[in-house]
Amino acid sequence: MPGLTIGDSLPNLQVDTTHGKINLHDYVGDSFTIIFSHPGDFTPVCTTELGAMAAYADKFAQRGVKLLGLSCDDVQSHKEWIKDIEAYNVCICICICICIFINQNLPVNTIVMLVQKGKKVTYPIAADPNREIIKQLNMVDPDEKDASGQNLPSRALHIVGPDKKIKLSFLYPASTGRNMDEVVRALDSLIKASKHKIATPVNWKEGEPVVIAPSVSNDEARKMFPKGFQTVDLPSNKDYLRFTNV
Ligand code: BEZ
Repeated sequence: MPGLTIGDSLPNLQVDTTHGKINLHDYVGDSFTIIFSHPGDFTPVCTTELGAMAAYADKFAQRGVKLLGLSCDDVQSHKEWIKDIEAYNVCICICICICIFINQNLPVNTIVMLVQKGKKVTYPIAADPNREIIKQLNMVDPDEKDASGQNLPSRALHIVGPDKKIKLSFLYPASTGRNMDEVVRALDSLIKASKHKIATPVNWKEGEPVVIAPSVSNDEARKMFPKGFQTVDLPSNKDYLRFTNV
């Protein structure tokens, strides 16, 4: 991926947002921060994504994580668009109430997800009418252009650590909305790996066993992981797959 990527420092830009001017490093402070871009205001997929971010804001706050949205239109446009996003969240809330009332069988997951809706957009949304920020943050979609031929942002999402470095990036095209549960899952993995010498295996979810980092010897692991660890017996006998709980 050309441009800003994992391990790079977040450029310390001044950005204009719905909450006023923000200096990116000051905003990140000592927290993990999610910076996520959208192709444009008043577009269908983006409206659902920003609504979902509002619905998930409590989950991020519980983890001490800050949010910053970005779309290339100006702040006034964002403020108008937020009214639509919040109205959409209310619509979903009403739909779920109707489904429950008429006793439609909805999967529990859907109910949990949708009941969280009806939430306000409490996080700031940055403006980028001149496309300077999206260039510096590697959020430009090479294929999408607006009516005047200017580049549009992709659905990029950077998770920035308290050290102001990019820890993880997702990059989706305009046609594909993101999965917020995956954002939360990846964040939980990053936070855990920042505290312990571990990594999280395929499809891992919070509460499940993790693997011990290959750089940790068995002697070190015995001291580091008081709950112990299990080594998977593999044909190579290299003892590199070790599960523990932290
Ligand atoms: C959308 O958010 O729905 C969208 C935006 C730009 C291109 C395609 C879809």
